[in-house]
Amino acid sequence: MIEKLFEKIVAHSKECGFVYQSSEIYDGLSAVYDYAPNGVLLKNNLKEYWWKSMVQMHENIVGIDSSIFMHPKVWKASGHVDAFNDPLVDNKDSKKRYRADQLIENAADKLIEKAEKEVEKAKKRFGDTFDEVLYRQTNPRVLEYINKANSALQRMNDGLNSGNLAELNAVIEELEIACEVSGTRNWTEVRQFNLMFSTQGGGATSDDVLYLRPETAQGIFVNFINVVKTMRQKPPFGIAQIGKAFRNEIVARQFIFRMREFEQMEMQFFIKPGTDKEFYEFWKQKRIDWHLKLGSKAENLRFHDHENLAHYASAATDIQFKFPFGFKELEGIHARGNFDLSAHQEMTGKKLQYFDPETKESYVPHVVETSVGADRLFLAVLSQAYDEEMVPDANGKNELRVVLRLHPSIAPIKCAVLPLVKNNEELTTKAKAIFNQIRHAFVCEYDEKDSIGRRYRRQDEIGTPFCITIDHETLTDNQVTIRYRDNMRQERIAIEQVERIVSEYVDMKNLLK
Ligand code: GAP
Repeated sequence: MIEKLFEKIVAHSKECGFVYQSSEIYDGLSAVYDYAPNGVLLKNNLKEYWWKSMVQMHENIVGIDSSIFMHPKVWKASGHVDAFNDPLVDNKDSKKRYRADQLIENAADKLIEKAEKEVEKAKKRFGDTFDEVLYRQTNPRVLEYINKANSALQRMNDGLNSGNLAELNAVIEELEIACEVSGTRNWTEVRQFNLMFSTQGGGATSDDVLYLRPETAQGIFVNFINVVKTMRQKPPFGIAQIGKAFRNEIVARQFIFRMREFEQMEMQFFIKPGTDKEFYEFWKQKRIDWHLKLGSKAENLRFHDHENLAHYASAATDIQFKFPFGFKELEGIHARGNFDLSAHQEMTGKKLQYFDPETKESYVPHVVETSVGADRLFLAVLSQAYDEEMVPDANGKNELRVVLRLHPSIAPIKCAVLPLVKNNEELTTKAKAIFNQIRHAFVCEYDEKDSIGRRYRRQDEIGTPFCITIDHETLTDNQVTIRYRDNMRQERIAIEQVERIVSEYVDMKNLLK
């Protein structure tokens, strides 16, 4: 039933008040989005879950909130001025711009798909006698597809690592990659494009260039020594931060997956040199467990180790999520060695070291970072929560129910309060009194417009775990009907039980325990 899931999620996001295109009345701004009333509640809950998991639940992790603007030399030291590039290529006929590495990766994915189709066909043809392992090892067509894909990726990575961009052109040529708009293979040379946005400081001279930070991490590195001195932290310890980051992405066509302004949730874990592998593995496990707790299915998550490492990393993996358009990076876990602290130490001449009182030695700590995009997480959560099912309506006819099966702790609205009918003052007064009583405990919505069935559907569509209905009997027995989102079960409960039942269910501690 769920076809074209991605298109549905994009439409649902707008119609149900989760995400709007930025400046929509001006026809929008490419790759920039605004969070709508339900969206901002959901996003804030995701950020709260991350923040509490990191800062509240670890005595050796503290939080900061550093500025978007930083001294321009920060970005020279960090390597972003010289190396924060993507390889871009234009099609001369359509004038459409692409990331060369993505063109090659997509073509390699298609080759792998072809190989898989060959295996599937053979499986059907040979039935029980089929030896899949042998077939994969010996079938010439399967081998040809796989080898071609692997060799293309290897050559691309070598080209990127050595700065030989002509090699990427050669691979594009060899894989016969055509522009999706013009259909031609008339490409410019591949060239590097720096992703940082820049602006002018108050003096507005050419030396006065300011960058909009492309990652929040540098705000943590430059505050490392402040935190050591003022917060009595010693390695291993972490600094966590949530904040905006900006990248002039070349290709940004996947809704909030790849934006030019987005939000990161990053944690830099400062460790003793030599313990890198131990903490890298530790944080890989911790972070995947965190996503599972939130409700991601294990089959929708996987690790993808980097071959082409970012300029700062000594080891790196992505936690990939199965988005409606395939497995893509959701979070990065990177062993950054002492790259950043050493670079800032060299640039500033200030000592960025920890003195170990036991060994009486100073060292520049190494770093393992975890970095997840709040917006990508939002998209992942929305796409896995979106569900459609046929259910009987009030007349017993089947109708489509769209329901967001969000974890109750992150649902934007926790409880909707609904008088059974609108034009009965006694009912609406009672309903409003209950609403005003429970809204102190969690986010509630009062709704009296349309039929009760329509109002239930509206709450299902935004993932509200509970609806409370006030009917004529409520006036005499002080009971309401509570309706559970996931199975639509309804039961009568006393009014004074509402706050306790809902609170227990939606409390963030259910995710943190
Ligand atoms: N400090 C390390 C760092 O920035 P990254 O892999 O470039 O690493 C980390 O980014 C995370 O930030 C990604 O896994 C992704 O979730 C998010 N992210 C990166 N670029 C993004 C973009 N253009 N739009 C939305 N999220 C993005």
